[in-house]
Amino acid sequence: MRVTMIGAGYVGLVSGACFADFGHDVTCVDKDANRIAALRRGEIPIFEPGLDQLVATNISQRRLQFSTEPTGIGEADAVFIAVGTPSRRGDGHADLSYIYSAVREIAPLLPPSAIVVTKSTVPVGTGDEIERILREARPDADMHVVSNPEFLREGAAIYDFKHPDRIVIGTDDARARSVIAEVYRPLYLNAAPILYVGRRTAELIKYAANAFLATKITFINEIADLCESVGADVQDVARGMGLDNRIGSKFLHAGPGFGGSCLPKDTMALIKTAHDYGAPVRIVETVAAVNEQRKRAMARKVVAALDGSIRGKTIAVLGLSFKPNTDDTRDSPSIPLITALHDLGATVRGYDPAAMEQAKLQLPGVVYCDSAYEAAEDAHALVIATEWEQFRALDLDRLRTIMQEPVIVDLRNIYRADEMARANFRYLTIGRPDAERKQGAAARRRKLGNGKATPSKELTGAL
Ligand code: UGA
Repeated sequence: MRVTMIGAGYVGLVSGACFADFGHDVTCVDKDANRIAALRRGEIPIFEPGLDQLVATNISQRRLQFSTEPTGIGEADAVFIAVGTPSRRGDGHADLSYIYSAVREIAPLLPPSAIVVTKSTVPVGTGDEIERILREARPDADMHVVSNPEFLREGAAIYDFKHPDRIVIGTDDARARSVIAEVYRPLYLNAAPILYVGRRTAELIKYAANAFLATKITFINEIADLCESVGADVQDVARGMGLDNRIGSKFLHAGPGFGGSCLPKDTMALIKTAHDYGAPVRIVETVAAVNEQRKRAMARKVVAALDGSIRGKTIAVLGLSFKPNTDDTRDSPSIPLITALHDLGATVRGYDPAAMEQAKLQLPGVVYCDSAYEAAEDAHALVIATEWEQFRALDLDRLRTIMQEPVIVDLRNIYRADEMARANFRYLTIGRPDAERKQGAAARRRKLGNGKATPSKELTGAL
């Protein structure tokens, strides 16, 4: 089949390359001439494991092309729209201007029976507006607009595309359904469930799914805080909950708060849509507010680990991307954390395996280092902010010799308390007070009161 993908950003590129890999003839179109030129040379503008190989293979087999113009769109069986829908400045609504201008631009070029598919995450009703624009531009044509949301995780996007939990096809039109089902045929043959629903329903499924994931994370994060107060272990609580099939074990890892380009933006957009329709989603509103506060408040843990003040001290932060296997720092919990550490008078030495360039744009005051060990040099505390694989097996003896104080604040719970105790580290975690107790932290607890670190006056004022 012939597929045109409008937008060669994250979603467009991954989806386009995977469709080509299914055997379709795919053209990815993007206005950014530098991006297209780089892609034609086989250079991938985003960090996504395996994507370079997939693109190179499909270019060489002539199934994947890149263009700044929608060439060939007149013969396309399906035209996917995968342009960005960032948060609109000021009000948090999804900014749909890129979508609508792309639709206006392609409208005169489309075949009369075009199937136009939105892959971008768009608020309920966007498909209706796209249809209206197309009808206005081409009153005699018989085009259909389908919602086909993506559920790709950054860092695992190719796997997710090829092994989807479900494929959602939102349209009531039988011809459109069969065209899109044909595009996904290789997955269909592998028995990936296809869900045929109405277009508005498909649009809402995407937001509801991301808002639910955000809620699950925030739920366990608050339980982690409670664990710290009552002396329970959040990892055991999560396991005990997750083994219940109705709950499930995924997305119950307590941490510094959810980040990235999707969950924060999509929860906010859902809240706005719900308000517009007079049906507020209060749970999601609370989730967004709790998560925002949490990210910056992580600095409190660092202050507690250093007995109440970090002024003039050096803190190493490992991990700047919002999660491992990506260079994406959008809404990364590391950013408010580092900003708070700076505000409290600390020097921050940072390291990330992939996200340093992105981080430099947002956090110019950090001392950027070439490795975890370089970042740890002379540090009074080391914070693990992102669970990159290479941070899971740090040489603790080496760290202890290069750091000023043996203090590790693990915001991703990737170490065992007993190994930290053996290596003589003071070890603070998320929701595992037991980890501290194992290290004979009784004296520190007495000082801080009730087993929970109390922020200094300096901190309470600042956070
Ligand atoms: C998310 C969804 O997982 C995808 O299904 C969806 O397609 C995508 O958004 C999107 O809308 O495009 P992504 O943003 O790549 O994917 O990242 P996630 O793996 O969902 O992680 C989001 C954040 O939650 C990260 O900061 C991560 O560290 C955090 N997280 C995740 C936790 O703190 N605990 C968990 O148990 C899981």
